[in-house]
Amino acid sequence: MKKTTKFPDGFYWGGATAANQVEGAWEVGGKGISVSDVITVGTHQNPRRVSLDMSEQLYYPSHKASEHYDHYKEDIALFAEMGFKMYRFSISWVRIFPNGDEEKPNEEGLLFYDKIFEELKKYNIEPLVTISHNELPLHLAKKFNGWASRKMIDCFMKLCNVLFERYKDYVTYWIPFNEINNLSLPISGFVQGGIIADDMKTFGGGTDNAQLRFQALHHVLVAGAKAVQLGKSINPNFQFGSMTCHITLYPLTCKPEDIVLTQQEDLLRNCFCSDVQLKGEYPYFQEKYYQDNGIIIDITEEDKKLLKENLHDFYAFSYYMSVCRSSDPDADQTSGNIMGGARNPYLEESEWDWQIDPVGLRYTLNKVYDRYRVPVMITENGLGATDKFENGIIHDPYRIDYLRTHIEQMKEAINDGVELIAYTPWGCIDLVSVSTGEMKKRYGFIYVDADDNGEGTFNRYRKDSFNWYKKVIQSNGEDLN
Ligand code: BG6
Repeated sequence: MKKTTKFPDGFYWGGATAANQVEGAWEVGGKGISVSDVITVGTHQNPRRVSLDMSEQLYYPSHKASEHYDHYKEDIALFAEMGFKMYRFSISWVRIFPNGDEEKPNEEGLLFYDKIFEELKKYNIEPLVTISHNELPLHLAKKFNGWASRKMIDCFMKLCNVLFERYKDYVTYWIPFNEINNLSLPISGFVQGGIIADDMKTFGGGTDNAQLRFQALHHVLVAGAKAVQLGKSINPNFQFGSMTCHITLYPLTCKPEDIVLTQQEDLLRNCFCSDVQLKGEYPYFQEKYYQDNGIIIDITEEDKKLLKENLHDFYAFSYYMSVCRSSDPDADQTSGNIMGGARNPYLEESEWDWQIDPVGLRYTLNKVYDRYRVPVMITENGLGATDKFENGIIHDPYRIDYLRTHIEQMKEAINDGVELIAYTPWGCIDLVSVSTGEMKKRYGFIYVDADDNGEGTFNRYRKDSFNWYKKVIQSNGEDLN
C-alpha cells in the first residue's frame, strides 16, 4: 500500500446538522409534531423535561432552533464560502408525513427540501441525508409506542419511498438512522425509539423496558435493511451508511478484569448494530446478552434474509470523546454523550465534561476499518463550548484546537491505511444541544445570535474557526494552523 500523509483528492470536507436542532419553524408548512418538539430546554445540571401535551409555560428549543428554515439560503452560502464539499442534514419526517400514517406526503414539506437540494447543487455541495434523526412523529409514538411496534416499518418505508423517488437524482449518500446504536441504552428510548414509559418525565427518564427497547431496535434494523433494498431498486448508485455513536472505551487499568469488561461493553454498545448492518447477522455476543437478560426478540426468517441480503455500504460514526471502564466500583466517574464512565487521568474535559481524546480517533478509525473494510465517514465530531460574542466577533481558539488535533489524527489514520472519505463536524452552524436543549453549548463555525430561551436576532456571524476551517478545506487538510 502506498504511504501517504495527505488527504485523498475528492475528500469530503463539510459539516453536519439535524432538522429538529437547526430548522425551527415547527408549525410552518403543514409540519407535524415530532418527539423532539415536546422536549423542553434543560441545562447540564437539570435534565430536559418531556411534556407530551405542550405547555405555554415551558420552552421547547426545537420550535425556533436556529431558524434555519428561514435562513437556509444564507446558511448554505456560508457553508459554500467555507468550501464545503459535503453537507449532512436530516429530513424532518414530520414535514413530509405530519402524523406518520397519512397516505400522501405533505407537498409543502417536500418543497422546502427541494429548495435545500437546489441550493446545495448550486454550490456543488454533496448532500449526505439522514432519514431519521430524532424526528419521529409524536403521533406514531402515541399510537404504536414507536418502534416497539412492527407497524413502524411500513410507516418508515413510506417515507423512504417518497424521498428516494423524489431525490434520486440529487442524493447518493443516505444514512437511514442517526446513531442507530443509541437504542441499546435506555436514554434514547423516547427520543429515538418513540417509546413512552408511563412514568417518563425527563429526557431519558422513566422505567426502562429492555425487552421492548431491543425489540424496537430490531424493527429499526429491519427497516434499515429494507431501506437499502428499496433504495437500490430505485437507484443502484445509492450508497447507504450504517451510523454509530461511537463511544470509544478503554480499560482504566491493564487488570484483565478491566480489559474483559471493556471488550464486552464495546461489543454491545459500539459493534452490535454495525455488525448487523455490515455483516448481515446478529453477532454471537448479542445473542448471549439477550439470553442472559431474558430478552426474547421476535425475529422472523424473512427478517434474517433481509438483513443478510441488504448490507449497508459505508461505516459512519460520531466521535466526540472516550471513557474508561473499570471493575473498581469506586473509580472516579465522568459524564459523556450517551454514556459516561471512569475518568481517564490522561485526558482533559470540555465544559460539559466530555473527555477530549484526539488520539482515540485514530485508534477508533483503525478499529472500525479493520472490522468492516468499507469506506468510513466521520459524520459528527466537535467541541460544545460557550462562546463569547462581542461586537460580532467570536474568538474560539479552543474549538480550533479541538478540531485541529482531531484532523491531525485523521491524517495519521489515513497514513495507517484507513479508507476515510468524509469529515462532517457536528453543528457546523450553532444549533440546539440534544442532551441539554441549550443553545449555549455551541459547536458551530457560524455563530447564531440566540440564547437558551430562543431570544435574539438570529443573525449569523463568522467565528475565527470559520476562517480557519476555510483554510483547512482549501489546502485539503494541509494547512491546519
Ligand atoms: C450526537 C447526536 O449524539 O451528539 C447529535 O447525533 C447531538 O444530534 C450530538 O447534537 C452532540 O450532543 P449534544 O448533546 O451536545 O447536542
